Parts: sequence; C-alpha cells; structure tokens
Amino acid sequence: MIETRGLTKRYGPVLAVDALSFDIRPGVVTGFLGPNGSGKSTTMRMILGLDRPDAGSARVGGRRYHDLAWPLRTVGALLEGRAFHPGRSARGHLAALAASNAIPARRVDEVLALVGLTGAAGRRAGKFSLGMTQRLGIAAALLGDPEVLLLDEPVNGLDPEGIRWIRDLMRTLAGQGRAVLVSSHLISEMALTADRLIVIGQGRLLADTTVAALSARSASLEDAFLELTAGTAGYRGRPA
Ligand SMILES: Nc1ncnc2c1ncn2[C@@H]1O[C@H](COP(=O)(O)OP(=O)(O)OP(=O)(O)O)[C@@H](O)[C@H]1O
Ligand SMILES: [Mg+2]
Repeated sequence: MIETRGLTKRYGPVLAVDALSFDIRPGVVTGFLGPNGSGKSTTMRMILGLDRPDAGSARVGGRRYHDLAWPLRTVGALLEGRAFHPGRSARGHLAALAASNAIPARRVDEVLALVGLTGAAGRRAGKFSLGMTQRLGIAAALLGDPEVLLLDEPVNGLDPEGIRWIRDLMRTLAGQGRAVLVSSHLISEMALTADRLIVIGQGRLLADTTVAALSARSASLEDAFLELTAGTAGYRGRPA
C-alpha cells in the first residue's frame, strides 16, 4: 500500500531521512516510532509529495503521490499543525476540499458525523479546541474514503476520551482493510493500537517488526524501544 525505497532527505547539513525502505501493509495499524527529530514527519511529508526526496522514492498504491488522479481518494493524512483557513467553518473547509477532489458534497456531513462534529459544523474552525481541531483534521483525512491513512501524532494533547476514540477509529479503519500508518511518542498507546511497528533513529530504519516481537525483546515495549534507539536521540547536526 505504501512502499518507500531508499528514501533520503537532507536539510543542509542534516541527513533527516537516510535510505529508508519499508512497506506498509493493508488491514493493519502500523506504528511509526522514533525519537524527536528522527525523521518521521519528513518521511510522511515525502510520501504525500509535500517534500521532495534527494534520493529514493515513495509510492502509495503503486504510484507516486503526484501521479494520483484524485489524491484524497487514495490517501488521507493528518499532519502536524492546523491545515485550514481559521475563518472557515468546519463544514466550509470540508466542502472546499471535497469540491477540489470530485468528492460528493453529501460526504461532508457523513465525515462530520463520523468524527462527532455535526453540532459544531457551522462554527469557525479557527476557534476550535485542540481536540476539535484534531477531529476536523481526521474528518478531512477520511473525506475521500481512502485506502491509506497517514496520521502524524494524532493523539497529541487529547484527553483520555479523545485518545480512546482515535485508537478505536484506527482499529476500525484497519479492520476495513485499509493501511494505517500512525506516528506517536506514546509507546504504551502504540502497544494498544498498533499491530506492526517501524522504528527509526537518525533517519535510518532500526526495526520493521510486530508489537509482539519487539515487546518480547525486553521487559516492556517501552524498554525495548529505548534500547533500540539508545544513542540516536537528540542528535540534530549530522554531516550529510
Ligand atoms: N523544513 C526543515 N528545514 C530544516 N530542517 C528540517 C526541516 N524539517 C525537518 N528538519 C530536520 O530534519 C530532522 C527530522 O525532523 P522531523 O520533523 O522529520 O522529525 P520527527 O521524527 O518528526 O520528530 P518529532 O518526533 O519531534 O516530531 C530534524 O533534525 C529536523 O530539525
Ligand atoms: Mg514529527
């Protein structure tokens, strides 16, 4: 569903993503783990065609993002930061996205209901709380009923009810046969949510495995993660 091959990105002296190759499969939730600055968001941006790789490639459903006729109908994404005009209503934001991707307008109310925002659909999205903003971002990701979902730290700042809601949603979406790639720093949350794991450090692949297999390597998944990534955290200035 997602294939990266030798994916590489440099920012000046920093090798943010270093020859990364992995496959993300349909029907499972894959956790994308790595210390701060290890290249998770950069990898996701390259998969979505928002950053151009210096080498290698990323494909979604066998195609490069830019070759997808209707991208939102193939891959939905929630990235860091607010990705909407603050003055637009939630419904207006989704309606504009739907129109530009040839998605039927009735789908807007479907996804608003799915994320629990029906009652707030007419309010200015710029005034939304963090949890509502995350829900609106997820509504946008689901708008095109995509086979592939990329979620970059979707539970950041959410309350326990919101965290559980996103967990259940991701499991449901994977159960429908979709490929779900989700980054998070909450290892205990990933232990509950993910089936498979991709672990990176300093832009390099450290593990492509299952939650069960990585957990079995140490006393807990968190211990195994810390052992695997030891020495790769907090390093920002590698020469390219
Ligand atoms: N636009 C940019 N310009 C310059 N450097 C960048 C840019 N984006 C990312 N980097 C650098 O690339 C490296 C990887 O960053 P990235 O945001 O992909 O990491 P991450 O794994 O998502 O981290 P976090 O867990 O903190 O979100 C870091 O060293 C970062 O400083
Ligand atoms: Mg990030």
